Amino acid sequence: MKCYFLFIFWLLKKNQPATFWERYFLVAKIKLEKNHSVEVLPGQIAGGVGLTVTLPCWISPQTDAGTLEIRWYRPERYDTPVLFYRDGKIQAVQEERYRNRSSLSRRSALSNGLKDGDVSLRLDNLTLQDGGVFYCYVSGDWYDSQAVTLLISALGRTPVLSPQPVNDTHVNVSCRSSGWFPEPSVVWMSDGRRLVSAGRVSHSHGADGTFSVHGWTLVSLSDTPQVFCLLSLSSGEEREGAVDVQAFRPSPSGPWKALFLTVGICALLGLLGFVLFKHRDRLTDCNDEIKKLRRNAEVITLDCQSKHPDLKISADLKAVRDPISYQRRGDKFPYELCVYAAKKFSIGQHYWEVELGQKETTPKNCWLIGVAKVGNYWSADKSGLSPSNGFWFVCSDGPKGFYTNTEPPVTLSLAPRPQRVGVLLEYDAGQLSFYDVTEGKHLLTISSTFSGTVVPLFNPGVGDTSPLRIVDLPKPEESPAESSEPLLQDSQNSV
Ligand SMILES: *[C@@H]1O[C@H](CO)[C@@H](O)[C@H](O)[C@H]1NC(C)=O
Ligand SMILES: *[C@@H]1O[C@H](CO)[C@@H](O)[C@H](O)[C@H]1NC(C)=O
Ligand SMILES: *[C@@H]1O[C@H](CO)[C@@H](O)[C@H](O)[C@H]1NC(C)=O
Ligand SMILES: *[C@@H]1O[C@H](CO)[C@@H](O)[C@H](O)[C@H]1NC(C)=O
Ligand SMILES: *[C@@H]1O[C@H](CO)[C@@H](O)[C@H](O)[C@H]1NC(C)=O
Repeated sequence: MKCYFLFIFWLLKKNQPATFWERYFLVAKIKLEKNHSVEVLPGQIAGGVGLTVTLPCWISPQTDAGTLEIRWYRPERYDTPVLFYRDGKIQAVQEERYRNRSSLSRRSALSNGLKDGDVSLRLDNLTLQDGGVFYCYVSGDWYDSQAVTLLISALGRTPVLSPQPVNDTHVNVSCRSSGWFPEPSVVWMSDGRRLVSAGRVSHSHGADGTFSVHGWTLVSLSDTPQVFCLLSLSSGEEREGAVDVQAFRPSPSGPWKALFLTVGICALLGLLGFVLFKHRDRLTDCNDEIKKLRRNAEVITLDCQSKHPDLKISADLKAVRDPISYQRRGDKFPYELCVYAAKKFSIGQHYWEVELGQKETTPKNCWLIGVAKVGNYWSADKSGLSPSNGFWFVCSDGPKGFYTNTEPPVTLSLAPRPQRVGVLLEYDAGQLSFYDVTEGKHLLTISSTFSGTVVPLFNPGVGDTSPLRIVDLPKPEESPAESSEPLLQDSQNSV
């Protein structure tokens, strides 16, 4: 508008009489300028459950929308909108389920928001019910509206694979996962090729509207050991589970009955397992204590075969970190991002240390350290990771603090955050103890009953700058205990 006033001003100043056509042109332009339209992107916008989406909508030609009325609403919900902006602010009238979840946003980093006529809607914490049409309605001394369709998908949980022997040569592997929307496709892979002998897949609808998947396939034991179950959405998002079927090869002496018996006894013991926590005060001579622990030091490396497919393992098999592309579902701890150690224990005392921070960086905020029964595979659900299922650990869950997986869980506040954690497994005594090595302090002990073989378990969480690193411990020296500092200094230099 300013332009045209300037143009008129220039015309007057030049003292040049505007011709009829020039005047007509100007008037027509000024009219057209008031004649704005609301625009949206063609096609549908995709969003994932628990995530955030922006529905782009803007005024064309560009104009300041700050003084206009903006109403985002669902079909037949004009009076209870998703968001209503008037008199320069967002009004309280709103559908309840969009409260605190909707805001005006910018359609791109280049946009200046309302000033540029950008009236895009941002929705946080998407739910399945958010799928469908949204109207973007703008009015001033003109009005216009457009519809935007939001397609919601939900990436389900990491599939859990359970092998069951059929006979001496074949294993029936089933793959289960829940929380999907829409229905995912299921593909079985082994050794980089697709398994054709896949059984029928059944999908079932949960109460929350998401789908659960159950598929199975028969695998010959003479095939490659690892079998993968790959679930994917048409958007290309996918989750994969893996199982080592060779571990389920029947042994000549122990038929399957024996395994089930063991599992049964284990579950029973786990249930009966009395869980005890001892919060001891700072140990009188921490360095001697840590030194003593290190007599049981083990050389631990990570077993790449056992890792969650998205995890990155260092070449020396000592460090693990989260995938860059990992999409966190809400603020849930990523329990499935696990890797096991190559070493397994079924007797005796064993000690190892895990570095959680490097110099100049704050210690990791998100991690899980413990042991698990051999034969267990990762699961995204905390409920599946109980001691009765053969998992024992401490989890540092960001702002939610520290907790154990015992029943009931024990939550701890550890300040300062441990920079290095020592783990002592006393298999026969049924104890798993955690130490803050830097502070030379005992943190807690989980008392339970271990059965079968257990293996160190690590999970680097997501979002930390440092990896989780297993420390190469110095050979315990036989020299008498010195003053308190040197030992810890040594241990840090050895990293
Ligand atoms: C602009 O105004 C003309 C009439 O002046 C009308 O026919 C046209 O639909 C309007 N365009 C928009 C996008 O509102
Ligand atoms: C929205 O946030 C306010 C304050 O932050 C809170 O009091 C209110 O309960 C929230 N409403 C909903 C529906 O979450
Ligand atoms: C999503 O919801 C959770 C609780 O359900 C809340 O803590 C979190 O702040 C919400 N996130 C956003 C971006 O609104
Ligand atoms: C084992 O079961 C599979 C699938 O049912 C079958 O093809 C195979 O012949 C069986 N093998 C033996 C030794 O029974
Ligand atoms: C394999 O196991 C599934 C259950 O997980 C079952 O429904 C299916 O019938 C089994 N297939 C065979 C051939 O045993």
